[in-house]
Amino acid sequence: MKILLTGKNGQLGQELQQRIPEGIQLVALGRDELDITNCPQALEAVAEHKPTVVINAAAYTAVDKAESEKEQAYAANATGAENLALACREFGARLIHISTDFVFDGRQSTPYRPQDTVRPLGVYGESKAAGEAAVQDLLPQAVILRTAWVYSAHGANFSNTMLRLMSERDHLGVVADQIGTPTSTHTLTQAIYKLVGKPEAAGTYHCTDAGAASWYDFAVAIYEEAKQLDLLPAEKQVQIKPITTADYPTPAARPAYSVLDKSRLISEVGVEPKHWRQALREVLKEKSTA
Ligand SMILES: NC(=O)c1ccc[n+]([C@@H]2O[C@H](COP(=O)([O-])OP(=O)(O)OC[C@H]3O[C@@H](n4cnc5c(N)ncnc54)[C@H](OP(=O)(O)O)[C@@H]3O)[C@@H](O)[C@H]2O)c1
Repeated sequence: MKILLTGKNGQLGQELQQRIPEGIQLVALGRDELDITNCPQALEAVAEHKPTVVINAAAYTAVDKAESEKEQAYAANATGAENLALACREFGARLIHISTDFVFDGRQSTPYRPQDTVRPLGVYGESKAAGEAAVQDLLPQAVILRTAWVYSAHGANFSNTMLRLMSERDHLGVVADQIGTPTSTHTLTQAIYKLVGKPEAAGTYHCTDAGAASWYDFAVAIYEEAKQLDLLPAEKQVQIKPITTADYPTPAARPAYSVLDKSRLISEVGVEPKHWRQALREVLKEKSTA
């Protein structure tokens, strides 16, 4: 089976290339080979490679910058998704499109289900919601896979930022009143390839690791695990202090609660996410042996 992957240089794109299951031929394209904002390019890529499945891991992901770069965010996240859906419809390919917990406003206190109403708080979430809507309209059989708080051993993410700050500082304040679920790219990649193997899967699914945490909890766990794995020197002590969202203002508002209900993915696709802390341990272990 042939898969066309967009966004090959991103966190998720790289992981998908490292864990290709047997029997799959993956054609991975970066922005210089396929700019998804360009409709003729999207049509041409799908026509040329004739994939059974297109995985769209390309996106504009700079949540705060999006507030002042609305056009760029919409171009990649809305128009880009639409272009790929058009190309898949034209040439009969399946589309697995990745989306985000930031389509929700965070006012719920129980996990968001795939069918819950989207109400994004910022431009990034709005642009991703617009992309979801375009994909649903053009290609109802497409899979929209929402995820959250994505990190991997490499790349720009919360875990790597914390490790850097912890090596530089003695004190850190981390937001404790936003609750979600850290998600390793391993988990996400496993779910995506399972979805590839289920041609009947269609519509919206949620995928994160198991459990819930605040950014503060996540930071404390990174610190403890990193110490155990010698990613931070034994003598290095960092005081991590819980702070509020109001203490750390950012251009984009973020949902206070964005835990996702994964039951559809678990029951229909057979994905069994690990607890986020276990997944973190594995990612940091990989980093410590790299
Ligand atoms: N990161 C998170 O915490 C998070 C949370 C929830 C959902 N998600 C979703 O998960 C998916 C993967 O995210 P990620 O963390 O892997 O993001 P990432 O590391 O920022 O990677 C995104 C990739 O998309 C590429 N890209 C941007 N615009 C493009 C365009 N017009 N055409 C082609 N490629 C383009 C980027 O290329 P350049 O390198 O050239 O910029 C980058 O390589 C996205 O759909 C994202 O919305 C992420």
